Amino acid sequence: MTADLVVRNCTVVTPAGRTPDAGVAVEDGTIVAVGRPDSLPDAERVLDAGGNFLVPGIVDGHIHNREPGLEYKEDWESATRAAAAGGVTTVVGMPNTDPVVDRPEHLELKFERGEAKAHVDFQSYAVVTSENLDLIPALDEAGALGYKVFLGSTVGDVPPPSDGEILEAMEKIRETGKRLGFHEENGEIIDHYTERFRAEGRNEPIDHSHSRPVIAEREAIERMITFAEETGAKIHMFHVSSGSGAEAVARGKERGVDVTAETCPHYLWFTEDVMAEKGNVARIQPPIRDEAERERLWNAFEDGAIDCIATDHAPHTDEEKLVDDPFGNTWDAISGFVGLETEVPVMLTFVDEGRLSAEEWVYRHSTRPAQVWGMYPAKGSLQVGTDADFTVVDPDSEWTLDDRTDLHSKNTVTPFEGETFAGKATATVVRGEVVYEDGAVVGESGYGTRVDVDADD
Ligand code: DOR
Ligand code: ZN
Repeated sequence: MTADLVVRNCTVVTPAGRTPDAGVAVEDGTIVAVGRPDSLPDAERVLDAGGNFLVPGIVDGHIHNREPGLEYKEDWESATRAAAAGGVTTVVGMPNTDPVVDRPEHLELKFERGEAKAHVDFQSYAVVTSENLDLIPALDEAGALGYKVFLGSTVGDVPPPSDGEILEAMEKIRETGKRLGFHEENGEIIDHYTERFRAEGRNEPIDHSHSRPVIAEREAIERMITFAEETGAKIHMFHVSSGSGAEAVARGKERGVDVTAETCPHYLWFTEDVMAEKGNVARIQPPIRDEAERERLWNAFEDGAIDCIATDHAPHTDEEKLVDDPFGNTWDAISGFVGLETEVPVMLTFVDEGRLSAEEWVYRHSTRPAQVWGMYPAKGSLQVGTDADFTVVDPDSEWTLDDRTDLHSKNTVTPFEGETFAGKATATVVRGEVVYEDGAVVGESGYGTRVDVDADD
């Protein structure tokens, strides 16, 4: 047999361990062999990984790709170009687009645009509001990966459903077998402090952070866990920012609730001191927490309370982020920043520092998100017969993000500008096609396809 592609000369890392001096062979977009050089077939194309790590493709279950409707910030092409350059082979788009993804036609529109433009594979969540509870089964049939509820006000102003409506939504979603994720901030708490701080003239970037206190996150997590305990729904906590929140997730898991959670690189990397250093550039919802909360988040992450890493990649224009006046009135600034091209470097830096093993990183950043969202083992594994999605990383290269405009997104504001990392992606392979190598996105726009999670239904 002659394979289409062999990636050789790498250390293959999976959650189960590492194999030095190994490689992977691909035929028709699927893995046909993994192992030592003498076990691999000849191939039409051989990619020398230069002794680097080869891992199952990174899965980012939380990006704001902004299309349809907000293409001035980002679109499927630019978001997935950034993904390819960042070593990310599958992305899942958030539903706070324009229109919001609240009915099958809007989901289909989002998928069509992705099919036309994406560089890597993709999926999308559907939003649940007071208005669309009856559409939950139809959104499942239209192929949504899962569902999202915004419990508190955030970018996009999607109104939260009532607690009764959430209970009903959980019952309906349980029937689909899919998972319901939350923007888990108690809306009444954050609205109260936002109004109070604004009335008092507290306008600094850190005031925005403190207007959304940890208790708002913890309470929302605990309430949704209680609802899931009652209804039997599978739930997920997006962007857990605090140790208090992560510990609440751990208690839910101990109670036997099917609750999964993610945190984001910025909550593990920065403390709220970044607001004094970088101002509104680092403004995000939920906000970056203090040192004590970050340490507790790390501990909970190590203990397994947090299943996955995801970015919350949220591009906005320089004007919206007040880049020219980063310490200007925070209530005039918007929340969110890009992350697709720094998530692998951040996590490899933690590996380099010995905070987690490479195997644990791969589990949290590829295998586990694929499992949580029902895409495993097609995504998130290196098993023979599954999609040939790989990320090749150099775990030793030290580099600094000197100039954010080197990033591939349409808008590139990020607090990671100026930070130094140990490691980066050197090649990205999606279903056997090399989409990024030697610092250049070489794949074609439109190659990426929707991950079909309902094929066997
Ligand atoms: O900071 C944020 N930005 N938090 C969110 O919940 C949404 C996101 C966005 O869409 O920009
Ligand atoms: Zn988000």
